[in-house]
Amino acid sequence: MTPTRKSFSSIRGVHDILPGESERWQAIERAAGRLFAAFGFREIRLPIFEATELFARGIGEATDIVEKEMYTFADRSGESVTLRPEGTAPAIRAFLEHHLGAAQAVTKLYYWGPMFRYERPQKGRFRQFYQIGAEIIGSGAPEADVELLALLHLLFERLKIDGVRLELNSLGDEACRPAYRQTLQRFLESKQADLCENCRRRTATNPLRVLDCKNESCREATADAPMIVDHLCEACRSHHDRVTEGLAALKIVYHPNPRLVRGLDYYNRTTFEWTTTKLGAQNAVVGGGRYDGLVALLGGDPAPAIGFALGMERMAELLPPELGQPAAPDLFMAALGEQARAWAAPLVLALRKEGYRVETEYGDASLKSQMRRADKTGARWVCIVGENELTSGQIVVKNLQTKAQETLEADRALDELRLRLASLPPSPVSSPPPGGRGEHKAR
Ligand code: HAM
Repeated sequence: MTPTRKSFSSIRGVHDILPGESERWQAIERAAGRLFAAFGFREIRLPIFEATELFARGIGEATDIVEKEMYTFADRSGESVTLRPEGTAPAIRAFLEHHLGAAQAVTKLYYWGPMFRYERPQKGRFRQFYQIGAEIIGSGAPEADVELLALLHLLFERLKIDGVRLELNSLGDEACRPAYRQTLQRFLESKQADLCENCRRRTATNPLRVLDCKNESCREATADAPMIVDHLCEACRSHHDRVTEGLAALKIVYHPNPRLVRGLDYYNRTTFEWTTTKLGAQNAVVGGGRYDGLVALLGGDPAPAIGFALGMERMAELLPPELGQPAAPDLFMAALGEQARAWAAPLVLALRKEGYRVETEYGDASLKSQMRRADKTGARWVCIVGENELTSGQIVVKNLQTKAQETLEADRALDELRLRLASLPPSPVSSPPPGGRGEHKAR
């Protein structure tokens, strides 16, 4: 009986990040990592799952995420756990659990990794997706908002991503939002007939969310809706003005968007998104804002905070094609025969140790097939060594770009190769080896 062959594919909405794409992700991670270091953020690695209650309380019971998008299950002891749909609530949980705020007034953290939301998969929307996120905990000053936005602005600049816009709003605070919420609710009650079913329900549970419904009739019905920016208290108005002045002083262009209300309940005051028209319906690349009440909501002493998260899949789509290209080898070592391979092995290792990209053949292959492979890899140099070369003490190197060929003393091969490789213009290296050549040049 022949065994049945079963093949598997990944789960709907869950994807692999393949070589070719992963280099582009590394380009984003590297640029973000450098900026985090420059801005004084430190990395925190958070668990993939947490107690369900953390998200229900932190994100808000009446949000889409908590109502219908969480991967929640009972573990073997019956405890309800949830695959994290976002990183802010876990970051604050860890901040409080480990008293990270005890050592300094302001704590700046960043994290990256997969998040899970049971959404309808479509272009740019996945059920397992990746975020890079950052949080500034302990400062309520508008300068913190400006600093965070400046970091993101620089990130887009470094990654040469254009065609994105920073949309900005203020959601007020506990002093002005309750009254505004009521005013909005009254307005929405008068428009029930024109609202979609979801928005009719949200009128009672989460009226602000009605403002960012994509449904055309809901948008028309709310065209004259009262907007929170016109109902801010004095403190929120002044905070908002100082944020916009700070952005203007740094020449960071922003677009006021009074309908930007965000899908998580913890926000107050400054909220923002970077959007693009290049990704279809899923137009938000970065989202974030201030959440001054969350630390206290999760059981800590009150502490203001602000943060953002960017979607890796969406960001990678926007990267210009020349960024994050896989790097071609610096050298292809074509060794012919066992003796030549034995001679070449320590040389290859020595060069790799210094951070050069060296490719070589496993086992026997003709010179012709090795040269074909060297060409295919895009290597800049090829070194040819066989029994004859070893006997004569002269090896051959060829520059595959200029086609110039020379012979070198086999005894001085390491020095001579190093000399040639060091003078190469930097390749579009996806991830320079730490301490290697690329790293030195980058400084
Ligand atoms: P968020 O707006 O829910 O905010 O997500 C941030 C970004 O994650 C979005 O702008 C988008 O790029 C990406 N994203 C969200 N859902 C998906 C999905 N299903 N597929 C692909 N990408 C997605 C937060 O998560 C907040 N925790 C941000 C924050 C940090 N606020 C304060 N601190």
